[in-house]
Formats: sequence, structure tokens, C-alpha cells
Amino acid sequence: MKLLVTGGCGFIGSNFIHYLLSKYPDISIVNLDKLTYAGNPENLADIKKDKRYSFIKGDICDPGAVSRAMEGVDAVINFAAETHVDRSIVSAGSFINTDVYGT
Ligand SMILES: NC(=O)c1ccc[n+]([C@@H]2O[C@H](COP(=O)([O-])OP(=O)(O)OC[C@H]3O[C@@H](n4cnc5c(N)ncnc54)[C@H](O)[C@@H]3O)[C@@H](O)[C@H]2O)c1
Repeated sequence: MKLLVTGGCGFIGSNFIHYLLSKYPDISIVNLDKLTYAGNPENLADIKKDKRYSFIKGDICDPGAVSRAMEGVDAVINFAAETHVDRSIVSAGSFINTDVYGT
């Protein structure tokens, strides 16, 4: 099975990817992440060379990027999100874009 995980460089997504790779030997995972202030590629540094894993830097609000990332994918798990409450007060627009339109 091939999965697209979005926001895989964040807290929940990176733990989810580690969990899947350790539990399911035959799984293949594409991680689409915009690498905002919240995304940290170091969360997944240890699996960078795992042949079952690939990373695409991209935005879930970009239909072309999502469409390309979805090639051959059986299911999508969306963790890509603006999550910092303080930032939602200062700059609500990016929250509406990602959490509503992107999703
Ligand atoms: N952390 C928790 O305890 C918790 C609990 C319940 C639910 N959740 C939900 O799980 C989801 C992920 O939470 P988290 O704590 O991992 O967040 P996080 O802020 O740690 O990670 C979010 C990830 O999404 C990426 N991202 C942001 N905007 C993007 C975009 N437009 N396109 C692609 N990637 C984008 C960021 O780069 C980052 O890697 C959220 O929907 C959150 O509400 C989190």
C-alpha cells in the first residue's frame, strides 16, 4: 500500500510515519510538507535513506503539487496544518488557507 502523508515533518505526522514504517514492512510513504516554521525535516532524518519513504516539499493549497504527490497513492492522511494558536491571532489568513481551503 502507498500512502500520502501531508505535514509529515510536524509533530504528529513524523511520529505517524515512524510508526507505520516500523509496523508495516511493505508500506510505502510519500510525505508532502511545505516546511513552515513548524516543519522540521530532522524529525525524519533517520529514515531519509529508507527506500519506502520519499519527501516532496510542497503546499496542500497547490492543486498541481497535491495531484503529482498523489500519483499511485491508495490513501491520504492529512496532518498539514497551521497549528500555533498565537499565530492564528496575529495572522489568520494562512490558517484559513491551509486548514480550510487546503484541507
Ligand atoms: N499535537 C497534538 O497534540 C495534536 C492533537 C490532536 C490533533 N492534532 C492535529 O494534528 C495535525 C498536525 O498537528 P501537529 O501537532 O503535528 O502540527 P505541527 O505544527 O507540528 O505540524 C504541521 C506540519 O504541517 C506542515 N504544513 C503547514 N502548512 C502546510 C501546507 N500548507 N502544506 C503542506 N504542509 C504544511 C508544517 O510544515 C508542519 O510540518 C493538526 O491538524 C492538529 O490539529 C494535533
